[in-house]
Amino acid sequence: MPSGRARAARIPFVAANWKMHLTREAGVRLARDVVAAVGEVEAPEVVLCPPATSLDAVGRALQGTPVQLGAQTMHWEPQGAYTGEISAPMLVDLGCRAVILGHSERRQYFGERDEDVGRKVRAARGHGLTPIVCVGEGRGERESGETDAVISRQLTAAIAMLAPDQLPALVVAYEPVWAIGTGLTATGEEAARVAALIRAQFGAAAAGRVRVLYGGSVKPDNIGEFLEAPGIDGALVGGASLDAGAFSAIVRAAATAAR
Ligand code: 13P
Repeated sequence: MPSGRARAARIPFVAANWKMHLTREAGVRLARDVVAAVGEVEAPEVVLCPPATSLDAVGRALQGTPVQLGAQTMHWEPQGAYTGEISAPMLVDLGCRAVILGHSERRQYFGERDEDVGRKVRAARGHGLTPIVCVGEGRGERESGETDAVISRQLTAAIAMLAPDQLPALVVAYEPVWAIGTGLTATGEEAARVAALIRAQFGAAAAGRVRVLYGGSVKPDNIGEFLEAPGIDGALVGGASLDAGAFSAIVRAAATAAR
């Protein structure tokens, strides 16, 4: 089965986006519970992305474990007069390995533009962070048949400033905005179709190596459909990642799919 072969060449990837939830103590507790539940599972790369205030504490809790630390956003400049912002070198200093960029909530509520995402992706790669680039159409865009155009536009801008050798390390999350936090999901078939569209935007050398995730109301009982979808290598999980049991069930499903 070609999709199985293709997936076997890429390590599955499951990321937890805690969004604006949990203070340090609760975050550390959740991180420890996740490590205890998934620590022995091989294969999927697992990244926890707590809010910035908990990065240090959660990072310490993850030290010496296979579970990685990630951030939810960052600025594109390494330092400067940008009140409230955090830079890539600061995230590296905290032990972050990855950073979510261009999440639809950043685009929708904080005015993040396509070209900003491109700058951030370039800065992240430049500092050795794995960008988890989010793309996805809104409900209105989907209903008016603009899904493919929106994905192409967002992704083109996100990778525009990268050199070809920086492309394969990217992780791209397809997160339809209408599926985030709603309990609605795309079908596996739709996710596979968009994953192919995403890969087609990378050159031949990178297309087979970029990992594409599905995100939007991922739960233990629907993750199977996405892991079976050709070209989907894992998930970006919001709500369900706040529950160690649910999140680790998703990680275990990804481990099984990798075999
Ligand atoms: P939910 O899993 O809560 O729908 O959130 C998805 C998401 O936005 C992850 O980045």
